[in-house]
Amino acid sequence: METVLSGIRSTGNLHLGNYYGALRNFVKMQESNRCFFFIADLHSLTTHPKAADFHGNVRQILAEYLAAGLDPEKCTLYVQSDIPEISEMYVLLNMLAYVGELERTASFKEKVRKHPQNVNAGLLTYPVLMATDILIHRANKVPVGKDQEQHLEITRVYARRFNNMYGANLFPEPDAYNFGGELIKIPGLDGSGKMGKSEGNGVFLMDDEAAIRKKVKKAVTDTGEKTDAMSEPVKNLFTIMSVVSAPEVVSFYREAYAAGSIRYGDMKNQLADDVCKVTLPIRDRILDLLQNEDYLRKVRKNGAEKARESAAATLQEMKKLMGFKGLERA
Ligand code: TYM
Repeated sequence: METVLSGIRSTGNLHLGNYYGALRNFVKMQESNRCFFFIADLHSLTTHPKAADFHGNVRQILAEYLAAGLDPEKCTLYVQSDIPEISEMYVLLNMLAYVGELERTASFKEKVRKHPQNVNAGLLTYPVLMATDILIHRANKVPVGKDQEQHLEITRVYARRFNNMYGANLFPEPDAYNFGGELIKIPGLDGSGKMGKSEGNGVFLMDDEAAIRKKVKKAVTDTGEKTDAMSEPVKNLFTIMSVVSAPEVVSFYREAYAAGSIRYGDMKNQLADDVCKVTLPIRDRILDLLQNEDYLRKVRKNGAEKARESAAATLQEMKKLMGFKGLERA
């Protein structure tokens, strides 16, 4: 049995990219593995969310996890900050993390470029906290989207480095994972780049039908003029279609494209129908769950208890290997 772990930052409602890149894989993997899924609220602090929004953001993702099908009886579902062992291990792991390596991380360089006024140390050491999340449960499979691949590479480096430095075999080297094989990147509806929470190019699990239809209708395509290669925006629409629609529907539109008879308006109507089929039932369940405060609190509390037990066991072994003896053996 594999130990599976993954998380999503609590920085806004989940979109189709989060769902197909990560969450849907979580739901499948919980059936036959030892699974840990969490809400990365500490990671969300790098972008300074308002204190008044902080708790609501966490609660929203918890409801979205459950609505998408995570079952707290089948997996350990928790909030990162409920596990103080994570913050402690993060301090220890920071000593093995070289600044030069962190500065070369693609996600860090992108943040520096996009937000030069907010290059905080938490942003630099973001991969160290993420590696801690993974190593603290000694996970070996990490379902994530394509954009997280480099963070997994860094996690493997730290696992290896710790094991070598302390002559131990404490941490396995984890792999990024997608149920269908390759890691994926869901593009946005704006014709370029990936779907993101702050990009204004996403369909969210919380969107209602009118919002979905409006967004899909406005998605960028091309003029329909025949060229040798498919344009980027149209390729993107096909990529989204390939995850939400049935294979024969995708083939139908691919053939129409090849024949030059495609009508983007029809393709978008079909795409909107198929997105609605996936997300609207989830939206209904999210709305229900958000009404059920007692249940959400119970799930969070039980998850924290289970996760702390596993985290504390790893931390204890790690500290022992590093030479800590603690008060009782002073
Ligand atoms: P985050 O919150 O940015 O995204 C959560 C998950 O969604 C995936 N994702 C996508 N997949 C495909 N196409 C897209 N357009 C798309 N957008 C987002 C991400 O790859 C990710 O799997 N650092 C992580 C959270 C994290 C974590 C961890 C993950 C913290 N600790 C430990 C795994 C293990 C993050 O910011 O993801």
